Amino acid sequence: MSQIIPVIIDTDMGVDDAYAVMLAFSSPLLKVIGITTCFGNVDVDSSSKNVMKILELLDKHARVAKGAAGPLLGKNRNYSNARGAFLHGKDGLGNVGYMLPEPVHLEVDLDAVSYMASLIRNQDSKVTIVSLAPLTNVATLLLAYPDIRDRIDGIAMMGGSVFGGNMLPAGEANIVADPEAAQIVLQSGVRIVMCGLEAADSAYFVKDDIEMFRLIGGRTGRFYYDLSKDYLTATEKLTGERRAVIYDSVPVAWLINPAVLRTRPCYVEVDLNGQYTRACTVTDENCAERSPNAMVAFSLDRELFLKMHTEAFRQYG
Ligand code: RIB
Ligand code: CA
Repeated sequence: MSQIIPVIIDTDMGVDDAYAVMLAFSSPLLKVIGITTCFGNVDVDSSSKNVMKILELLDKHARVAKGAAGPLLGKNRNYSNARGAFLHGKDGLGNVGYMLPEPVHLEVDLDAVSYMASLIRNQDSKVTIVSLAPLTNVATLLLAYPDIRDRIDGIAMMGGSVFGGNMLPAGEANIVADPEAAQIVLQSGVRIVMCGLEAADSAYFVKDDIEMFRLIGGRTGRFYYDLSKDYLTATEKLTGERRAVIYDSVPVAWLINPAVLRTRPCYVEVDLNGQYTRACTVTDENCAERSPNAMVAFSLDRELFLKMHTEAFRQYG
C-alpha cells in the first residue's frame, strides 16, 4: 500500500484549478492538509471565495489561508481583468460561481505563507506542495523560512514549458505572473516536478468527456459541466480547438499515479531580463554544465488522465 502523501495546494482557483482540487480530494493516496490562495486567474479574495465554494460543493474540508495579491516585484499581473477573466470567467468559476451558495467556510486568520510554514512544521512526515498558481507564496515561504526546505518532500507545480508559451510567445501564465518567484523556487534545491505545457498539450477534455462527467458525477458532475461551458468556448476562440485544457490536474494526477507522465531530469532557469523572453523557463535536457534541478514533464497519457477523472467524478456521483 503506497504511503499517504500530505499535500498543501496553492491555487488561483480558476476552472482547471477546480478540477485539480476535485481530483486531489477523490484520491485516498493524498491528504490535503491545507489550501492557500494566490492572485492569478482572479484576485486573491475571489480565489479564496472560489476555493470555499468548491469545498462545500465537494463536501470536503480543508482550511484556507489567503496569500499574495500580486507578484514579488513589479506591477500586479492579475489576470482577472485579462486572460483570466476571458478563460475562467470574471468570477474565476466559468461565470457560474453564483450557482453555488455563499461559503460559510472560514479562512484561517493566518496568511498563506505563515500557514504553510505552520502546517509543514507540525506534520510528522514531509509535505508535498502542489503549486497551481504563480509561485509567489511558495517562493516567499522558501525565502522566509529557509530551515523548512528539508521538511518539504517536493513541489509538484503546474508551470513553465520546454518550448513556447500560452500567455507570451515564450511564457506560460503562472511563470509570467511572477518570474522572479519561479526562479527562486527552481533554484531552491527543493525537489521539483515541473508540469508544463508539453504535458498540458494532452491534458484536455472535449465536450463528450464533460458530458460524461455530468452524467456520472451527481451534483458535482452537473456543476463541473456548467463550469466548463464558457471555458470550452473561450479556449476554442484562443486556440481554434474546442477543448478544456485542465493544466492544473496534471501535477495532482502525477502524485496519484506517476505513470501518467513521461518526465526527464533537466536544468531549468527562468529568463528574467529578456525583452521578448522574460519568464521563459529555459530547459536544458542535456545538463552539460549544471546538475538537474527539476523533473520536467514531456508528455502525458491522456487516456489514463481521463480515466482518473472519470473515476473521481463517479465517486462524487
Ligand atoms: O498556464 C496555465 C495556468 O495558468 C493554470 O494554472 C491556470 O489555472 C492558470 O493559472
Ligand atoms: Ca491555476
